[in-house]
Amino acid sequence: MQPFAFLHLTDPHAVPPGETLIGQDTNARLEAAIAAIAARHAPGGDMPVAFAVITGDLTRDGEPAAYARLATLLSGLPCPAHLMMGNHDNRIAFADAFPLAPRDPAGFVQHAFATPAGRCILLDTLEQGAPHGTLCAQRLGWLADRLAEDDGPVLLFLHHPPMPVGIPGMDVIALRDPQALWAVLAPHAARIRHIFHGHLHRPIAGNWHGIPISSLRGTAFEVRMQGGAPLVEPQAPADYGYVRVDADGIIIHTERVPLLA
Ligand SMILES: [Fe+2]
Repeated sequence: MQPFAFLHLTDPHAVPPGETLIGQDTNARLEAAIAAIAARHAPGGDMPVAFAVITGDLTRDGEPAAYARLATLLSGLPCPAHLMMGNHDNRIAFADAFPLAPRDPAGFVQHAFATPAGRCILLDTLEQGAPHGTLCAQRLGWLADRLAEDDGPVLLFLHHPPMPVGIPGMDVIALRDPQALWAVLAPHAARIRHIFHGHLHRPIAGNWHGIPISSLRGTAFEVRMQGGAPLVEPQAPADYGYVRVDADGIIIHTERVPLLA
């Protein structure tokens, strides 16, 4: 296969215009990321990409005005964006702002699409009103059906990490019952090339049951690496992932975003 590239963005936490999150204009931080991406990754540029996946927490708290602003900001991307749900999202407000966004038959914001690198499968772990993640039997059934459709490589995306990372305040709001997810994935583990997640607001890489897994700080803020309650660094620079895939492997550049003047 020819080398193929896409972007991983996460946790933009867009706010209604004029508002802030932890004293930060998260819309401006996302705007800076999009400007950097447009300058670097447009078609014909030196590192073009086919699409972006944004792994949830699209907004601060599911506000319709935040989704509307997000839609405007995302129009500056030089590629299509696949949007996912995080615990700070609201499916109804999201659907109003993004009526063409794919959903599964039960209404969860889950879909799958083919790429030269394998099939991307995007999961919806939102349990509305809860900070932790959930994959109910219905959503896991949808995933099992997708995995049964072919035997090719898979890139899996979900907002909540399926494993603890050693930050207690974040580990208590990870994906609940990750064993149920693993039960679905295990028969296909050899062809799941990578798992991408968000939620932690940290650049993290490792593996889960042997499957490579990674996340990013995202564009809104950083969570400190320390015990106890999560503490945030709202002024840490935004980042995004440039994901390059070829036949032999996957490389992810975690790129820091300069803030706009
Ligand atoms: Fe978040």
